[in-house]
Amino acid sequence: MTRDLRVAVIGLGRFGAVHAEAAAALPGVALVGLCSRTLSRAQGLAERFPGARAYDSVERMLAEADLDAVLVATPHKQHFDPAIQAIRAGVAALVEKPLTTSLTQAHELVAAADEAGVALGTIFQRRFIPAAQRMHEAIVQGRLGRVVAAECLAHLGRDRSYYEQDDWRGSWAGEGGGVLLTMAIHYVDMLNWMLGTPTSVYGRWATLKHADYVDVEDVAGGVVTYQNGAIATIGAVTTFENGFASAPSPTVAYRAPGFRLAVHGSVGHSVGLVENPELTQAVNDPWTFDGAAEDLARWREREEGRSSVPEFHGLQIAEFLDAVRAGRPPAITGRDGMAALEVIKGVYLSQARQAPITLPMSDDDRRAADHLTEGAE
Ligand SMILES: NC(=O)c1ccc[n+]([C@@H]2O[C@H](COP(=O)([O-])OP(=O)(O)OC[C@H]3O[C@@H](n4cnc5c(N)ncnc54)[C@H](O)[C@@H]3O)[C@@H](O)[C@H]2O)c1
Repeated sequence: MTRDLRVAVIGLGRFGAVHAEAAAALPGVALVGLCSRTLSRAQGLAERFPGARAYDSVERMLAEADLDAVLVATPHKQHFDPAIQAIRAGVAALVEKPLTTSLTQAHELVAAADEAGVALGTIFQRRFIPAAQRMHEAIVQGRLGRVVAAECLAHLGRDRSYYEQDDWRGSWAGEGGGVLLTMAIHYVDMLNWMLGTPTSVYGRWATLKHADYVDVEDVAGGVVTYQNGAIATIGAVTTFENGFASAPSPTVAYRAPGFRLAVHGSVGHSVGLVENPELTQAVNDPWTFDGAAEDLARWREREEGRSSVPEFHGLQIAEFLDAVRAGRPPAITGRDGMAALEVIKGVYLSQARQAPITLPMSDDDRRAADHLTEGAE
């Protein structure tokens, strides 16, 4: 019998705890390390997971814990250091989105993982939601004919208390981006997964609602072209009332509409999904094939309104660890994380240049895109 895979979580805030819970629930996986900058935080969480030891140093944990994989759930700008340390120690790394905020660092991680021969993955757990899997399968099976267009909407609500809950949120220096980088990135990844290789992006962004306390974008739009000729549009805002983490407004009754993705094909059919409210399981809509009404009703009954946390993190972590065990690439790789990041940073660069950006970016464009956002104080 093979031994349990030895796994640790680095960064133990809200989502680090989700990772720990998801990993600890998996058969064949031993959660042996919990690492935070603050030892007492790691010790507090370790009480819930017998067998997990608390650390406040990534180096020491890598030296002592005989790990097979780490799950990195630190804030965006702190993804790179623990991930590169793990990779250089020969340990696989599954990193929360965005893989990094710097394209240079994303490339460095991917290259280091290739060189060390270890798995590198990016968390985009929404790909594991059945509605998304069905869309992807329909596209791969050719049921849409040629994919010609897609639209991706992130119509979200955030408020001042959300941005103020952590000191890293809401600034170019701390977070490295706004609604595109932190929220819409899940669906930008899905566009890439379903449409293929992006070849250009044109975009605009602004800070229109939350400008008193954030400097990153709260409104953004983009047009992305793909190698097969398909054209996708992205619209992303955090300007709605009563969204995630908002106190209900006494004057505005509606909730933020959440996410919507639709993909259209040359034979006239469309597939899509709606996630409303955020972090519930998305359901298919539109779905234009014959028999759709019965299928949709059945799927809706099974899936609608259920929380998507931590179930789909669990599925992605399980798939990633299976890949580590089998020595194969994971379903969602570091390259996928880099590709989604490049579309988003392409929007920022496009705005600065008032011109479309060719993808994949040249070395010069990558440096220019990083210079725009990474140097922020
Ligand atoms: N996949 C998803 O749906 C999803 C949802 C929410 C958050 N996230 C991602 O998870 C990450 C964390 O988000 P969060 O909401 O849990 O943030 P958080 O601020 O609640 O937690 C981050 C934790 O990391 C710790 N930390 C910072 N630097 C560290 C270091 N160098 N070593 C160890 N610990 C360190 C902080 O002290 C904090 O406890 C972000 O990248 C975010 O984008 C993903």
